[in-house]
Amino acid sequence: MDNDKIVNPTEQPCSYWLSTTTQTNWPQLNEDITVDCAVVGGGMAGLLCAYYISSKGIDTVVIDAGRIAERTSGHTTAKITSQHGLIYDKIKNQMGQELAKQYAEANETAIHEILKIAEENNIKCDYTAEAAYVYTQKDKNINAVENEAKTASDLGIKASFVDEIPLPIPVKAAVMFDGQARFHPRKFLVPLAEKMDKKGVRIFEESRIIDIEENNGRYILTTEQEKKITAKKVVIASHYPFYQKKGMYFSRLYCERAYIIAVKAQEKYPGGMYINAEDPSRSLRGLNSDLDEFVLIAGESHKTGQGKDLHNHYRALAEFAQGIFTIDDIPYRWSAQDCMTLDGIPYIGRYASDTPSLYIATGFQKWGMTGSIVSAMIIKDLISKGESPWQDVYDPSRKNIAGSVKNFIVENLDVAKHFISGKIKPISENYDIKPGEADIVELNGNRAGIYRDENGELHIVNTTCTHMGCELNWNSAEKSWDCPCHGSRFAVSGDIVEGPAVRPLTKESDTSLVEKLIKDQF
Ligand code: FES
Repeated sequence: MDNDKIVNPTEQPCSYWLSTTTQTNWPQLNEDITVDCAVVGGGMAGLLCAYYISSKGIDTVVIDAGRIAERTSGHTTAKITSQHGLIYDKIKNQMGQELAKQYAEANETAIHEILKIAEENNIKCDYTAEAAYVYTQKDKNINAVENEAKTASDLGIKASFVDEIPLPIPVKAAVMFDGQARFHPRKFLVPLAEKMDKKGVRIFEESRIIDIEENNGRYILTTEQEKKITAKKVVIASHYPFYQKKGMYFSRLYCERAYIIAVKAQEKYPGGMYINAEDPSRSLRGLNSDLDEFVLIAGESHKTGQGKDLHNHYRALAEFAQGIFTIDDIPYRWSAQDCMTLDGIPYIGRYASDTPSLYIATGFQKWGMTGSIVSAMIIKDLISKGESPWQDVYDPSRKNIAGSVKNFIVENLDVAKHFISGKIKPISENYDIKPGEADIVELNGNRAGIYRDENGELHIVNTTCTHMGCELNWNSAEKSWDCPCHGSRFAVSGDIVEGPAVRPLTKESDTSLVEKLIKDQF
């Protein structure tokens, strides 16, 4: 199949999960309210937190900046696994056996909990139990794979070392976890939200929280529309946390993008979920519903806001797919954004050591399905009992982050260089920008991002990120302005696509100067 047909740059990517479900339509918050618990963020983590917390008789609301289960949860690969690359041997070596056991138990429980919730609520979500494999094609990684199989097995996971996998690719070794699963995240989350709503959990959409204040033991959350929520407890499950007064998350979280294609192959998919142990990463899973049968292939991670022609990532995945399957079509492609922590373990628990009523769930790396439900179980226990059996390994204030000082310095140096804007060309006569293209120029003394859409209309924004002032870069694959520091993304209109930014970009509504300069050359 022709690569340019696979990746048509004029077509905007679209997730299978969003394409096969209808958009939700919960109301905007239009009055001030008082609740026991406010959950900020209506993705999988936020909805499950609300599900568990409300089950304890706690009056709970979910509030989302956009539509629930859409941004992160609508762009996942939806693998429900306790297998997170080669993590168990790493945790055991860096944090000890006890914390590795906590991690294993939490994630194994998570797999069963999702099925339990689906069954209890009579939700059909294409849940399919399957084995998961981490494979290597390199001799140098065989030992690491072997150690992972042994450590995971010692921790109680049904893990085994194998030297071949069902997928028709040569491997040197693999570790297989039994009893893992995959599903359709929106077929799970949207009906669950409807059931929660019926049971009294209030859900508000298109209501971005832009500020949180503490006042006499209560939190006051303010929306963009200046409505207030007063809450005794607050859970921030908004992917990258926007609340900056505590926790210093901006110095210990960064964002990565990854790409996913849905392949219609002539060969029958052999089943199983796969990820390699080396770079560039390649992840595969089957997808079958009543109507469709695809193979999802994901990978090509890079830091958000970095890289040049990002269409190449889709092309690379298509080439990889062609090496394994005869491709009839690639009807869906989309990209995901992941929050990454310094030691590879999510931050779940109290937002900071001095915020007993403010909680955080973030940094799920590439493993947001199990990470979400683990965070919901932990935070529910912290709220209702004051402790969780798995709190230590996920503690956001943990001090035993091996390598964290080095990673902290590397990450923050990387951020620092993006505060300094590079040299940009002043816009001048004979300037040209074609439909579908974007450029960064100096305009009236400011840094301006110009995009000309397919209809010829210009969209001009100030490309200084409204979060902490880093300079944005153009994302050609998704047509957005992306921040290389903490992953905020903005549409060509300047509207926020994803945070932590809470304010849109300044828009240049007068495009006449640019139009004139372009026109003058003809
Ligand atoms: Fe933090 Fe842009 S996301 S500066």
